[in-house]
Amino acid sequence: MQADYAIIGGTGVYDPAMLENAERHEIDTPFGKAHVTIGTYAGRRVAFMPRHGYTHSVAPHKINYRANIRALKQIGVHTVLATAAVGSLKEEHRPGDLLLVDDFLDMTKSRPTTFYEGAPEGVVHIDLSDAYCGRTRNHLLETAQAQGIAISNGGVYVCTEGPRFETPAEIRLYSQWGGSVVGMTSVPEVVLAKESEMCYATVAMITNYCTGISKHPLTHAEVVETMRDNVQKIRELFFHAIER
Ligand code: HPA
Repeated sequence: MQADYAIIGGTGVYDPAMLENAERHEIDTPFGKAHVTIGTYAGRRVAFMPRHGYTHSVAPHKINYRANIRALKQIGVHTVLATAAVGSLKEEHRPGDLLLVDDFLDMTKSRPTTFYEGAPEGVVHIDLSDAYCGRTRNHLLETAQAQGIAISNGGVYVCTEGPRFETPAEIRLYSQWGGSVVGMTSVPEVVLAKESEMCYATVAMITNYCTGISKHPLTHAEVVETMRDNVQKIRELFFHAIER
C-alpha cells in the first residue's frame, strides 16, 4: 500500500472514478482509522480521500483530521492536493470560480489541531509563513495557465467551526480582517500536513456569496449544485498537475 500524491476531496468531490485499478483501503493510525482509495492517476500512484466520507456523512467539526493526514503520511504521500467548497467574501470571486488560497484565519473552536500534545511526542511550534506550500501552488498555477483553466492566485481562507453557516455580522468581521473566502475544513488539515512535512495546497471552489453578501438565504444544496456544475475544472487541473 503506497502512494506519492493524495487528493483530498471536499464537498461535492467524492468520486475516485478517475483512478485506474483503484482499491479501497482502511488504514490504522494511532489516531483511529482512515479510508482511502489508492490507484493510478496520470501514471502515478495516487490516494483519494473523501474528507466527509464517501456519502458526506461526517460533519466538518467531526472529521478525524489527524487520522486522515497520518494515514497519508504512513503510505508515503509527499504531496496533497485538496479541494474545498467555500463562500466568497469578495465581489470579484464569483460562484464557479477557482482560487488558490495562500493563508488562513483560524476561527475553529473544538478540534485537535496538532500531532504534538506534549510528551512523548514533545512540543513543536511549526512555522506557517508559507502555510499552503508555495512550490505546489506555483505548480498548480502554471498547470492551470498551460491548460487554459482560470484560477485566481492568493487569498485568505477563513476557517469556521460550522456546521452552521455564518451570521451577517461574522461575515462583515471576516471581510474587515482581510478574509477572501470562508469554509469549514482547511484548519487543521493544512496545519497537520505541515507538521508531517508534506507539501499541501488547496484549490478552493467558490460555491456562493457569503451570508449577507448573497441576496438570498444560503443552503447546502446551493453549495453542492455549484460544485457539481464546476468540479470538472478541478479534476482536469489535478490530473495535469500530477502528470507534469
Ligand atoms: N460558509 C462556510 N462554509 C462554506 C460556505 C460558506 O458560505 N460555502 C461553502 N462552504
